[in-house]
Amino acid sequence: MKMQAAVLHHPSRPVTVEEVQLDPPKASEVLVKVAASGVCHSDVRYADGDLGPDRWPMVLGHEGAGVVEAVGEGVTHVAPGDHVAFCFVPACRECRYCLAGKPNLCTVVAEHGSRGMLLDGTSRLRLADGTTLQHGLRTACFADYAVVPVGGAVPIPRELPLWQAALLGCGVVTGMGAVRNVAQVRAGDSVVVFGAGGVGLQVIAGARLAGADPLIAVDRVPEKLELARALGATHVVDAAAEQAPVKALKRLTDGGPDFAFEVIGRPETIRLAWDTIRPGGTAVVVGLVPDGVEASIPAIQFLSDKSIRGTYYGSGDPAAELPGLARLAIDGDLELARVVTHTAPLDGVEEALARLRRGEGARTVLLIDPDLSGSP
Ligand code: APR
Ligand code: ZN
Repeated sequence: MKMQAAVLHHPSRPVTVEEVQLDPPKASEVLVKVAASGVCHSDVRYADGDLGPDRWPMVLGHEGAGVVEAVGEGVTHVAPGDHVAFCFVPACRECRYCLAGKPNLCTVVAEHGSRGMLLDGTSRLRLADGTTLQHGLRTACFADYAVVPVGGAVPIPRELPLWQAALLGCGVVTGMGAVRNVAQVRAGDSVVVFGAGGVGLQVIAGARLAGADPLIAVDRVPEKLELARALGATHVVDAAAEQAPVKALKRLTDGGPDFAFEVIGRPETIRLAWDTIRPGGTAVVVGLVPDGVEASIPAIQFLSDKSIRGTYYGSGDPAAELPGLARLAIDGDLELARVVTHTAPLDGVEEALARLRRGEGARTVLLIDPDLSGSP
């Protein structure tokens, strides 16, 4: 079919919305009518060419929700009409990592996905002139429709409006997973979160649910710090105004927090997270750093029993966790609407990316089918 999609032709050029060709779903694939999609800083990384060469031309978008339009042979877990959230690691369930209970590290997804292909190694997307297009993070949901592998469409309850459900498959899974699966924050643990953007705010929401206290947000944009407070931060530190943030954070946490989350993706803030944690504490790096950039820490400090940890996509089983996260949102324990500071049509994608580059607003949700999205 022909449809509109946001295409990254080359990082030196703006993303354009244009007509592209989408092939029907093959066996073990699902065709979804996209209702709404969140714009994430990882989309900026792609758009700016920060993730290395050969990542274009590509249809962007990896966080979204919609309604199943058709299913390929062998798909039984969803049927046309079902509401789904996208899961950008559609685990094969058969590889070494999937069998070991680490489906977020699925090797089949890693192998084909890094080339922008679906799990059989091919694409369903073409430019009008026939050029093959990559699927952004196996999802490519800045488009009217998306064909995703079977594990990429996760059924969710209808009560959750799709414009809110759109956030589940990246920001929420990543942020909540970092808190619950990686740090395993317990009531009374002290937590500092560097970066209160779309993903960082979900880390804050998750840490609040886990009972973190104090729960301190660090950002350089006052508007983000206000949002962080609204989502449960007990304290905020303005990184632009505070000369010695580490000192301030240590003061607030009796010598350093149990956990610091870096949700920005910069070597300086990874270092700040490391410097801030108490002896025996853990720094969790959630932010995506441009390809080739290194971070350094003073190695003698390993003696202080500190740890630093990476995480990918919540480090759990994203597809299994999504319905429960949707339930939290329906019950009002996760206020998804609050992190949506902007909505826009698909055509607004380039401006949404620009806002992220400028650090303005938290999430923009693209209302690709406004009626279906349920947005007020
Ligand atoms: N000090 C403090 N805060 C900073 C700094 C800094 N030096 N630089 C940026 N920030 C803040 C921004 O103001 C913004 O609020 O970090 C936040 C980043 O948020 P977003 O741009 O909304 O990015 P988000 O989509 O949340 O993604 C954050 O997680 O998954 C990864 O790829 C993603 O690396 C990205 C990170
Ligand atoms: Zn994302």
